[in-house]
Amino acid sequence: MSAFAYNAEGDMMAEGVALEAIARQVGTPFYCYSTAALRAGWQEFADGMRGMNASVCYALKANSNLAVIKLFGDLGAGADIVSVGEMRRALAAGIPGRRIVYSGVGKKPSELMAALEAGIGQINVESSAELEMLNAVAGQLGVKAHITIRVNPDIDAGTHEKITTGRKDDKFGIDIDLAREAFALAGRLPNLKVVGVAMHIGSQLTTLDPYRDAIARVRELIVQLRADGHRIDRFDIGGGLGIVYADEKPPAIGDFLQVVRKETDGLGCELTFEPGRRLVGEAGVLVGEVILVKPGVSKTFVIVDAAMNDLIRPTLYDAWHDILPVRRPRPDAATIRCDIVGPICESGDYLAQNRDLPPLSAGDLVMVRSAGAYGAVMASSYNTRPLAPEVMVDGTRFAVVRPRPTIDEMLSSERFPPWMEKA
Ligand code: LLP
Repeated sequence: MSAFAYNAEGDMMAEGVALEAIARQVGTPFYCYSTAALRAGWQEFADGMRGMNASVCYALKANSNLAVIKLFGDLGAGADIVSVGEMRRALAAGIPGRRIVYSGVGKKPSELMAALEAGIGQINVESSAELEMLNAVAGQLGVKAHITIRVNPDIDAGTHEKITTGRKDDKFGIDIDLAREAFALAGRLPNLKVVGVAMHIGSQLTTLDPYRDAIARVRELIVQLRADGHRIDRFDIGGGLGIVYADEKPPAIGDFLQVVRKETDGLGCELTFEPGRRLVGEAGVLVGEVILVKPGVSKTFVIVDAAMNDLIRPTLYDAWHDILPVRRPRPDAATIRCDIVGPICESGDYLAQNRDLPPLSAGDLVMVRSAGAYGAVMASSYNTRPLAPEVMVDGTRFAVVRPRPTIDEMLSSERFPPWMEKA
């Protein structure tokens, strides 16, 4: 059952709190996350991993609110990070450095240095140039960096063009055919300690076959690498498990883990998973208020106060997000064909196009589903729109876990160059 559902009176609830009550207190637009839903996703992983030598490093990029990270950290999660900013978040939320995995195709020497200084447990290296760079940085600090090499297994994850990462032409990882050379180089570099292999083939996967194929390829590689004399103790499988936006049927976490268990059986590797979206996506919604309704010639525009700067996914990935009125419509209510759009001065500013929704009018609240992942984190303040606040619900209580900045706060970090200041 979803954590977001209408109650008997027809009010959309986040667990035991009416979204309307949050809107009254916090204003719109806002993001709302359900603790129960966040915990439920985690629990599915924990149950499925029982008896496996495996751990979860939550991919912070999906939702890096400190409260969300802390919730997972307290449950035992590590973190998968891609920047020093995310590292600072993980540490601030109480996740120890040794449980942090640092991924990314373009880490700077200063970032690698900060990671080594913080005692990050594993750095996933994605190129020979990065091997050399990390070796130099580790040498400067007099430490040994624990690394995996991320390989690109040349598998099509079958997801949106912009979020598939494991094909030959994608910028990620080292081509699996060149991996042995890279491991050989890593073995020669004195300040690196190779601990394993990593992969991540894409995001929003709704079938398990790409995982099966990719793991089989990497497994073969691991056998070769061991024959070459490398110690391969860890296998980082990456993230990517999909969620429901419209009518997808993503595999159960347990089934995914079953496949991994089978494909890695006997390999003797400690496994790492880096789920992001699957842990947070359906646990969050974006709530906006209808500003006005504008009938057009062929369709109606419902203009809301949430926009592409709050949720870029519809316009960037042609992503479908369900939109529901926060007050349950009467069962016999007619629908109208409409675009749900924001107030931003771009035609690409929409949350949904050509939707059949019950009639909405100014002041009505709408809820955008499955917005917990890659929502708030990808938001901007385009058009000087303050970042939407984030709210966390737990049972019948809620708290603002990131407030809406005031316009004054937004302006306060900018300044005039000295030559414009009055003498
Ligand atoms: N590990 C690595 C190395 C990654 O690059 C990613 C996501 C993950 C883990 C987590 O993947 P997940 O479990 O969340 O699928 N902004 C896009 C998604 C970009 C994903 C980038 N990498 C979207 O809104 O769909």
